[in-house]
Amino acid sequence: KQFDFGLIGLGVMGRNFILNVADNDFKAFGYDLDPEKVSALIEEGGNPERVNASSDLKTFIAALSSPRKIMLLVPAGKIVEQVIENLIPHLDKGDIIIDGGNSFFTDTDRRDTYLQEKGIHFFGSGVSGGAEGARKGPSIMPGGNKEAYEHVRPVFEAVAAKYKGEPCVAYLGPKSAGNYVKMVHNGIEYALMQLTSEIYDLLKKAGNLTNDELHEVYASWNKDRLQSFLVEITSEIFLQKDEFSDGRLVDQILDKAKQKGTGKWTSQNAMDLGIPIPTIDMAVSMREISALKDQRIQADKLYHRPALVAMDKDQLIHQAEQALYFSFIVSYAQGLHQLAEASREYGYELNLAQISKIWRAGCIIRAGLLADIAEAFEADPQLTNLLLSPSFVKQVQDCLPAVRKTVIYAAEFGIPVPGLFSSLSYFDAFTSGRLPLNLIQAQRDHFGSHTYERIDREGIFHTEWGE
Ligand code: 6PG
Repeated sequence: KQFDFGLIGLGVMGRNFILNVADNDFKAFGYDLDPEKVSALIEEGGNPERVNASSDLKTFIAALSSPRKIMLLVPAGKIVEQVIENLIPHLDKGDIIIDGGNSFFTDTDRRDTYLQEKGIHFFGSGVSGGAEGARKGPSIMPGGNKEAYEHVRPVFEAVAAKYKGEPCVAYLGPKSAGNYVKMVHNGIEYALMQLTSEIYDLLKKAGNLTNDELHEVYASWNKDRLQSFLVEITSEIFLQKDEFSDGRLVDQILDKAKQKGTGKWTSQNAMDLGIPIPTIDMAVSMREISALKDQRIQADKLYHRPALVAMDKDQLIHQAEQALYFSFIVSYAQGLHQLAEASREYGYELNLAQISKIWRAGCIIRAGLLADIAEAFEADPQLTNLLLSPSFVKQVQDCLPAVRKTVIYAAEFGIPVPGLFSSLSYFDAFTSGRLPLNLIQAQRDHFGSHTYERIDREGIFHTEWGE
């Protein structure tokens, strides 16, 4: 028993993660049913004393030091269940299982309770950053038993991405806290991706920007306040040559976006919690609309769009930057608002400043902006919505004229910018001291005697309307 860390599932993520563990002077042992993956890992590890692996569960279990720390990097769903069941007979009390996949948070709660009864600790621990992140430093979002985390902490802090030396991992809370935070991370990820795509569409259609120009624009944004992983890779994408034609690959990719469910779960659960996250909802809807390719093509022929009047390029780019920055802020605000409410509802006791901090490097939604967000939550730990933070008011306010102009232009010429539009509508509603929902209350009471409250006196009222 000499290996510090075990990992089940030697796919790309698993292999990269375990090599990262070994790079940090921990001895790591992998397990996979596929012997080819096992031998590939041993070969790549270079030293079987440091990185070893097996297709035999007993060998794997026997190799691990106590308490065993076993991370699963297998697809979410039934496979996680099966792997856990297979492990249980071989484990001792106090051993630790870490699910590193995007499991649904209620599944994690169920597994946590089940394993606790057997004396085994369970961690739902989101890992973000894709294959490269796993290899060089991901952002890790663990939730589970606080004391047991101390056994995992040295490995996680060593392998995680570092932001100015600080590891992008922290114990987030009990039970499914880690999975939940990762789910909302992905909801925000969906929103940021949708928004960067809308702005790309706008720049292309309204300004006729070429792929080289698009590259330049996104690359320059990435050097400024929009600095982020997604803006950075977007700038690179425009340069990628196509292997089958003279053009660029991006123009040959089918405009149907797939999804594995985490964005949808974020929206579904936000509805359960009663927290509005319309930018994220819209990003999910847009993946659904994108899938309706045949119907879109049919409809495209049925309706006419007004002829486009191109915009001045510099003005367009300047406005687009502000629109993107504004809607990025709104996306984080919505996701973090959901986390604040989930923390209350599910007893996670989340620390939003800490979460913003571990998102500053390693993960897909890492962005310069997150340092400011972390500061806002540090300054006011009770803050629920970023838009209420005094440190954000001026920068949001300053973007608004450009956001409005961009939305008006897109609406006039029929360029779909639903993520941006939702962000602005959400903002306008959230910042309205009085909304017309008084009328909805009147309607409810009119047709269904649902009662209403008044602004000028206490109590519950009902009116016999029309009398
Ligand atoms: C990450 C990602 C990752 C997710 C992919 C795909 O943080 O590294 O969020 O966990 O699986 O982004 O998600 P979709 O297939 O739903 O787009």
